[in-house]
Amino acid sequence: ELNVIREKTLMREWSRARRYQGETVALVPTMGFLHEGHLSLIRTAKSVANFIVVSIYVNPGQFAPSEDLSTYPSDLVGDLRKLSDAGVDAVFCPADLYLSASGDDSARHSGDAVSQSEGNSCVEDGNRDHETWVRVEKLEKGMCGASRPVFFRGVATVVAKLFNIVEPDIAVFGKKDYQQWRVICRMVRDLDFDIRIIGADIVREFDGLAMSSRNVHLSPLDREKALSIYESLRKAKVAVEGGQRNCQELIALTKKTISEAGGKIDYVEIVEQQSLKTAEEIVCPVVLCVAAWFGNVRLIDNIELNI
Ligand code: PAJ
Repeated sequence: ELNVIREKTLMREWSRARRYQGETVALVPTMGFLHEGHLSLIRTAKSVANFIVVSIYVNPGQFAPSEDLSTYPSDLVGDLRKLSDAGVDAVFCPADLYLSASGDDSARHSGDAVSQSEGNSCVEDGNRDHETWVRVEKLEKGMCGASRPVFFRGVATVVAKLFNIVEPDIAVFGKKDYQQWRVICRMVRDLDFDIRIIGADIVREFDGLAMSSRNVHLSPLDREKALSIYESLRKAKVAVEGGQRNCQELIALTKKTISEAGGKIDYVEIVEQQSLKTAEEIVCPVVLCVAAWFGNVRLIDNIELNI
C-alpha cells in the first residue's frame, strides 16, 4: 500500500524503521507528472531494493526566474494512482522542502527578498530561508549549465536534502538527464554519501522522442519536428559505426539535421562519459548530448557512443 508522506521528519522515520529491520530502501527523485520514463526508474529500483520511495517535488531552486517553474505540469492524483499501480511503498511530496523542520524558519518577507534581476534562483526570491548550496564545480559548468547557470546547484542541493531526509541505500536517476546523473554521482563521491547511484536507460515514445514531462507543451507540429533530435542522434551513431571519429564533423551533422527540421540549437556536444570533458576525436566512450528548442519548449536528449 502506498504511503503518502508530506513531512520531512515522518519521511525519515518511515525510512529508518525499514532500514532498522534490515530492509533496503531505494529512492527515485522526480518532479511529478509521471510518465513511462519515471516508471522505468521505479522498476529498476524494485529490482535492487525491498522498499521504494518516490519523491515528487518541483524544486524552485533549479529554475531561474525566467524559466518555466509556474507552468511546470502537475497531476498529483494521476501520479499517485500510477505509483500505487507500480507497487511503490511511499511517496514523499513535501509542500516546501526549504522551510526548516521546526516551522520557525525566520523567513524573509518578500519585501526584503533578493531581487530577481540579480539572477538568483527562485529559492532566494520567496520567503524561504536557505543559504547553503552544493556545487559540483566543473561538471555543473558546461552543456545545460551554460544556458542554465543555477540549474545544477539547485539539483545537487535538493538531491542532497532528499538523501539526508530519506537516507536511501540506493537512488536511481535517468540517463536522459545525463549531466545531472554525472553531477549526482560526483557529489555522492565527493561528499561521502553512502548511497549507490544507478543510471537507467532513456525511455522513448514509440517514434523515438525521449519521454519528458515537458513534451505536453509541444504543439502537434513541433512534436513532429522534435523527432529530428533522435533522428540526428541515430545518424551520428551510424556515422561512428561507419568509422567516423571526428567530433566536429559529427556535431555539424547533428546540428544540420535538427536545424533543417526547424529546431533552434542550444548546444550539441560530444564529451567523455565520466568527466564530461570535450572530446575532439572519439578514442574512448563518449556521449553525444543535445539541447534544442521547439517553439517555447527546450528538449534534451543524448546517445552514448561506445567504440
Ligand atoms: P524529473 O524531470 O521529473 O525526472 C526525474 C527522473 O526521471 C530523473 O532521474 C530523469 O533523468 C528521469 N527521466 C525523465 N525522463 C526520462 C526518460 N525518458 N527516460 C529515462 N529516465 C527519465 O530530473 C528531475 O526531475 C529533477 O531534476 C530532480 C532530479 C527530481 C531534482 O529536482
